Amino acid sequence: MNAIAAVSLSWGIGEAGGLLFHIKADMQRFRAMTTGGTVLMGRRTLDSLPGGNPLPHRRNIVLTRDAAFHREGAETAHSVEEALELVRGEDPEKVWVIGGGEIYAALLPYCSRCAITRVYEERESDAFFPNLDAMPEWRVFRSEAILLEGDTAYQFMEYIRREP
Ligand SMILES: NC(=O)c1ccc[n+]([C@@H]2O[C@H](COP(=O)([O-])OP(=O)(O)OC[C@H]3O[C@@H](n4cnc5c(N)ncnc54)[C@H](OP(=O)(O)O)[C@@H]3O)[C@@H](O)[C@H]2O)c1
Repeated sequence: MNAIAAVSLSWGIGEAGGLLFHIKADMQRFRAMTTGGTVLMGRRTLDSLPGGNPLPHRRNIVLTRDAAFHREGAETAHSVEEALELVRGEDPEKVWVIGGGEIYAALLPYCSRCAITRVYEERESDAFFPNLDAMPEWRVFRSEAILLEGDTAYQFMEYIRREP
């Protein structure tokens, strides 16, 4: 499966429950890549979505430790193992870990590819994506040209797990 995230220079992804950046082209790319597939997310990320609603046109799986949790339109997993069980048999290319920090950290070991939007700005953050540049098992497979939206420079990158 894959992870997808937009990160700051220090791999920050969020602050106070919200996103750090709202880059239109990044949102469009996120929608294009994940639509028709399955998204795995933490309960706090689900709560951060508009109305706390699951994402349309995707199978939504939410990780929570709360046994009583229920959200219309989403399936619930109470552990990493349960989440992996729910996506077993699916095309791994179409399964996306979409955050936030706790869930990226928990599921990265099961990912073989990360679609990272690198934003060339620093922001106060309380949630992070693991720093793939510091992890020898990951390497940059593809990086696109640096783009600008307003004053914000960003770059679409793809990291893949090195063969053992
Ligand atoms: N930049 C990006 O691409 C991006 C993407 C997504 C999110 N974000 C940001 O990331 C932040 C949220 O990240 P976060 O780390 O605070 O929260 P999170 O990873 O979205 O969710 C954490 C919650 O997931 C559940 N959980 C965690 N580990 C679990 C496990 N092993 N088994 C079962 N449930 C588990 C718990 O839910 P319960 O408390 O219900 O038990 C926990 O409170 C927000 O600021 C959001 O905007 C950024």
